[in-house]
Amino acid sequence: MDFLNQYNIYKNRINQKLSYTLNKLPFQESNLLQAMKYSIFSGGKRLRACLVYATGDIFKVNMITLDTISIAVECIHAYSLIHDDLPCMDNDNFRRGKISCHIKYNESISLLSGDALQSLAFYILSKNFMPGVCDSKRVKMISELSDSIGASGMCMGQILDLESEKKEINLCDLETINLYKTAFLIRSSVRLAYLSSNNTSKSVLSILDRFSNSIGLAFQIQDDILDFKKDTKKVQSHQKYNGKLKKNYLSILDLKKSKNKIKELYEQAFLMLDVLKKDFNINKLEKLTQFIIKRIE
Ligand code: IPE
Ligand code: IPE
Ligand code: MG
Ligand code: MG
Repeated sequence: MDFLNQYNIYKNRINQKLSYTLNKLPFQESNLLQAMKYSIFSGGKRLRACLVYATGDIFKVNMITLDTISIAVECIHAYSLIHDDLPCMDNDNFRRGKISCHIKYNESISLLSGDALQSLAFYILSKNFMPGVCDSKRVKMISELSDSIGASGMCMGQILDLESEKKEINLCDLETINLYKTAFLIRSSVRLAYLSSNNTSKSVLSILDRFSNSIGLAFQIQDDILDFKKDTKKVQSHQKYNGKLKKNYLSILDLKKSKNKIKELYEQAFLMLDVLKKDFNINKLEKLTQFIIKRIE
C-alpha cells in the first residue's frame, strides 16, 4: 500500500478515537470542552500517533492498545501547543493557520484546557482497554510518559527554550533544548508502543531511542525553518512580525548548514532502522520516516 493511504488510515483512526473520547466527557457545551476540541481538531498532522502505530506494527501490538497510547500522546501534544502559544510563553496568535486557543477563547480557558488535556492523557493511559498489557506494564508506560513531559523532559525543554532568549547559547545547548522540548515526546511515542509489546530486549529499545532522538531533533530544525520562512513572508508583506528572540538553528547556523544538519540526523535515523531491519519488518516506520522528511523538501 502507498504510504499516503496508510497515513490517512492512521490519521482517520486517531481522529475518530479522539472524538469518541472527547465526546464522552461531561459539560460538552462548556468553554473548557469547546477549547479542548478546538485545539485537538484544528488540523494537526498526528505524527506522534502515527509513530505509535508504525512502531507497534513492528512488534505486532494489538491496534486497540495502540489506540489508547495514541490518544494519550496526542492529548499531551495538544496541551503542549496550547500552553506554548500563551502570551507568557511564545505569545503566538496563530497555530496551524488558525487563531490560537487563547485568542479564540481566553487565557484562563486555554490554560485550563491544556491542563485538562494533560490529565485526560493519563486517565486514558491508566484506564482504557489495552489488550496484552498487564498492570505492571501499564504502570511502566505511565511513568515513561510522565517522565518524558515533566521536569526531566518537555517542561524542562520549554523553560530552557524561554531562557535562551536572554543569553548566548551554543549548538550543544540548542541541541539539549530541542531534545527536551521536542524529541522526548517523540521518543516517548515510540517507547510506549515498544513497552506495550512483548519484546524485552534492551538493545532494541536503545536502537529505537537513538532513532527517535534523531528524528525528534531533525523535526524541530524543520519546524524552525518553516517558522522562519513564514516570518520572512510576514515581514515582506509588512504584517506584524512575531519577532522571536529565542535561539534556534537558524540564529546559530545558516539555512544551508541547518538543512545539512537535518540530513545528517535522518541518516542516523535510517542507520538505526537498518539495524532493526535485520530482525523485524520495519516497513511502516521506514515509510513514515521518509514521509516526515518530505515536510521540508
Ligand atoms: C509542532 O509539532 C511543535 C513542535 C514540537 C515542533 P507538529 O508540527 O507535530 O504539530 P501539529 O500537531 O502537526 O500541528
Ligand atoms: C514547541 O516548540 C515545543 C512544544 C510545544 C513542547 P516551538 O515553540 O518551537 O514550536 P511552534 O513553532 O510553536 O510550533
Ligand atoms: Mg515554544
Ligand atoms: Mg512556539
